Formats: sequence, structure tokens, C-alpha cells
Amino acid sequence: MSIVTNTELLDRAKNGHYAVPAFNTCNLEYMQAIVFAAEELKSPVIISAAKSEVDYMNGHVFVALVKAMTADLHIPVGIHLDHGPTHEETVRCLHYGFKSVMYDGSSHSLEENIAVTREVVKVAHACGVHVEGEVGVIGQAANGPEGKQNDMIGIADPKECEAFVKETGIDSLAAAIGNAHGIYKKKPELRFDILEEIERRTNIPLVLHGGTGIPEEDLRKAITMGVCKINFSTVMRKGCLETLVDTLNKNVGDWDLMKQMTPAREKMKEIAKQHIIMCMSDHKA
Ligand code: 13P
Repeated sequence: MSIVTNTELLDRAKNGHYAVPAFNTCNLEYMQAIVFAAEELKSPVIISAAKSEVDYMNGHVFVALVKAMTADLHIPVGIHLDHGPTHEETVRCLHYGFKSVMYDGSSHSLEENIAVTREVVKVAHACGVHVEGEVGVIGQAANGPEGKQNDMIGIADPKECEAFVKETGIDSLAAAIGNAHGIYKKKPELRFDILEEIERRTNIPLVLHGGTGIPEEDLRKAITMGVCKINFSTVMRKGCLETLVDTLNKNVGDWDLMKQMTPAREKMKEIAKQHIIMCMSDHKA
């Protein structure tokens, strides 16, 4: 099948009671691992890039690769900008052909976040592109003081989420509920009470960031409460680099690049498959 918007992917997920996994990626092998895993498990999938990853690959190359790699497959695939930092950087991805963009104005005041997100929505919707917004601050797990990871995480206010959705016209919402990016120092304590209230007040597809390290039972509970997209990044990069170091150490002096890269790609595929199953999106394509 083909490239679709996150609106189509998330509506189907909401009705089908699963979440679409969104994997960040920044190179060919990484993207292949995600696509091979999704195809093998017949799962819809979102291939994401944050600004640094778009810059690393070049936005045109990123979109062209996703399209070429999935052209003959029978799974729906999204192409998404993760955490667009400014209006300009976010809108630039429409030019590259992204089918979904996130503008992350969560470090600004609610008023400013609303004002910029609304402008992004205007332009993106004119191009048929889905927009994800963020309320609360989904920080970096590692930035909290030792044993206190949640100090850096700003829990979203459900009333602010409601106002944000109404005033911006966004299509999906990433709200901070105790989740964070990176490796959690201890088991994350997701605020399911807050999630429930956000879902009740907004009634749009919800997105859970910081998927690495959230226990499967919590991911599944979040899905039953309206989460339709779950982002994973660190777990894939960690698996890739650990395997690569191991392979290089075992084969010192072997300059066969494909042979050295293959185990890392296989490891990423295995991790992607595990997370697809956690999201319950397998066999939903
Ligand atoms: P992790 O790196 O914690 O998996 O988070 C990914 C993410 O939320 C990308 O937006």
C-alpha cells in the first residue's frame, strides 16, 4: 500500500483499539529495520524524524526513501516530523512531502503555543497534512536529579489541553502524563487519571511520547484510554549501537561494511517487532 496521513492511521487505530507505533529514524538500515518489521507483522507504522534527523538525512531524501522502500508493500505508512521546533522548521517539512507534522511549542506559554500551533494548522491543513501538538513538558528522563526523574516532567493540565485543542484545530495531542524521552531511571509513573480527563475533554487521538522503557501493561492501559500513537526512539538506537560495537569487536579488521552492519539492522528489526506487538498493531494493516 502506501503513504497515508496520520489522520487515517489514528482514526483506524482508535476504532480498532490499538496504537500505531511511530519509530524515529536517521539512516537507511534503521529505516529498513522498521519497514521490514512492519511488513512481516502486517502492521501500520509511522516513520518519524526529529529536526536533527531530517537535517542529517536531508528532508527530500528522507521522504523519497520512505516512499521507495514501501512502494510495493501492503501496509499503510505515515511520514511524520517529530517535535518541529519552530513554525518555519515545521512548515518546511510540508515542502519535503511529510504527511504529518508535530509542532512542539510546549516550552512556551500556553498562549504562544496556541498562537503558533494555530498558524501551523492553517498551512498544514491547506496541504492535507495532519498536525500533532504538545501540552505540558515531555522532558528527558536522564535530566532529573538521581532518583527523581519526574522533576523535569511537566504534567499537562486537562483544562489547558481542552482549550488548546479547541483553539488550534490540531488533529492529535501529545500531552505530558509522567512520560519522558530516553532511559527512565526508575519505572515511570504515568498519570492515568490525567490521561482519562484529557481524553474526556478533548476527544481527539492522543499520542504517548517516550515509549522506551514504559512497561507493556502501561502501554496497553494507555491504549484502552485513547492513546492511538506511541513514539519509540532510544530503544532502537541503543539496540543498534550496542550490537554494532559488539560486532565490530568480534570482527576487528574486517572491512566488509554490509557484514558489520547486518546484525545491528537485524537487532533493530527484532526490537521494532517487539514494540509493534506491545502496541497491538500487528495484523491490523
Ligand atoms: P524515547 O526515545 O524515550 O523512546 O522517546 C521517543 C519519542 O517520544 C520521540 O518523540
